[in-house]
Amino acid sequence: MTTRILTGITTTGTPHLGNYAGAIRPAIVASRKSDADSFYFLADYHALIKCDDPLRIQRSRLEIAATWLAAGLDTDRVTFYRQSDIPEITELTWLLTCVAGKGLLNRAHAYKASVDKNVEAGEDPDAGVTMGLFSYPVLMAADILMFNAHQVPVGRDQIQHVEMARDIGQRFNHLFGNGREFFVMPEALIEEGVATLPGLDGRKMSKSYDNTIPLFTSAKDMKDAISRIVTDSRAPGEAKDPDTSHLFTLFQAFATPAQEAEFREALLQGLGWGEAKSRLFTLLDTELGEAREKYHQFIARPADLEDILLAGAAKARKVATPFLGELREAVGLRSFREQAQATTATKKKAAKAARFVSFRDEDGSFRFRLLGADGEQLLLSRNFADGKAAGQASKQLQSGAALDVRSEGNAFTVWLDDACVGESPAFADAATRDAAVEALRLALQPQQD
Ligand code: TRP
Repeated sequence: MTTRILTGITTTGTPHLGNYAGAIRPAIVASRKSDADSFYFLADYHALIKCDDPLRIQRSRLEIAATWLAAGLDTDRVTFYRQSDIPEITELTWLLTCVAGKGLLNRAHAYKASVDKNVEAGEDPDAGVTMGLFSYPVLMAADILMFNAHQVPVGRDQIQHVEMARDIGQRFNHLFGNGREFFVMPEALIEEGVATLPGLDGRKMSKSYDNTIPLFTSAKDMKDAISRIVTDSRAPGEAKDPDTSHLFTLFQAFATPAQEAEFREALLQGLGWGEAKSRLFTLLDTELGEAREKYHQFIARPADLEDILLAGAAKARKVATPFLGELREAVGLRSFREQAQATTATKKKAAKAARFVSFRDEDGSFRFRLLGADGEQLLLSRNFADGKAAGQASKQLQSGAALDVRSEGNAFTVWLDDACVGESPAFADAATRDAAVEALRLALQPQQD
């Protein structure tokens, strides 16, 4: 069995070393496993929630796409696309929005953090909160459920969102599945071995802390950032503690065990921080230099990137389009054409199931009944003196000719050639009578093929 792995990166910034080591590199490694079926995408709809600068959105989409490809993503093996090229995702978002509990979304960490901040500042709790922010987890659930991902590699801050996707998916399955599990339950995949890289100041590397080391922009940018890594004040010659040095942690994330051991030893022996930084730069430049070249080639050919992403979108939609069709069907958004057929099928069934039963009454006269699908009596004939006349009347009723039905108070009578051939009992009211007439007409309606 293949494992479907799916993850997205929000396109609001330029990828940095932390994104690469924490998300892109492990995802590419995972995609090479023989049983992996990977879906990787640019979460550009999510970007709109956080950013209203069109140029930045556009630039970031290009940079993140180029980064994945330069880092070695094989688009023949994986499905690589932009979220916004898959209209089925927005459509599914709505279907899921209609089953997602508001209370569930009230508990989302990101939303709650905004509310807490507002309350603390004495503002309206929802000040500055858009529906995009509030519904962020529903859009993310659609990303995941659309492709029935088994595993979703994410950072710890996203675990709750994957849990919400499970919750919402389960609810949909329960409401509309009719025993079928439309959606697979996804698992968040937190790779323990994967480094959460520290930034220049030692906190988690993140663009919101402004402490990142750029990945592919230029060797000079990388060198400049490295020079700003905060270290302790030990002078060259003094022993350094590798285990409390985030410069060492950064080195470790890209080094072989042998390189790591050598660097550790050198620090213990008093390697100066300036020299240590230059060794870190050399390591990163060796590891990433080739990919940086490729990155700049991709950036210089945006039309090629466009083609690659559109091909990826077409591949993704081969899965999404038919699946969304089934989901629309499940919730009741169905073609009227099929509906007409369905009604005809029911009619046929009713017509087929209806049957005439003839019998002799106590006084020896001949009568017949028309029984509906469930055996309920739709019509009871009057008494005929001879069986032939009764048979003829029932045949004539089945001929498909227009039925002559006349209302008599809350009852009705059925006529053939101006002779009454049957009389109903009195119904409770006119509406019940009309329903009975309708059922009779339906049962006698000629079958259409
Ligand atoms: N919310 C994720 C983040 O900010 C990005 C994302 C969007 C995502 N849709 C996803 C990740 C689906 C995994 C699966 O990191």
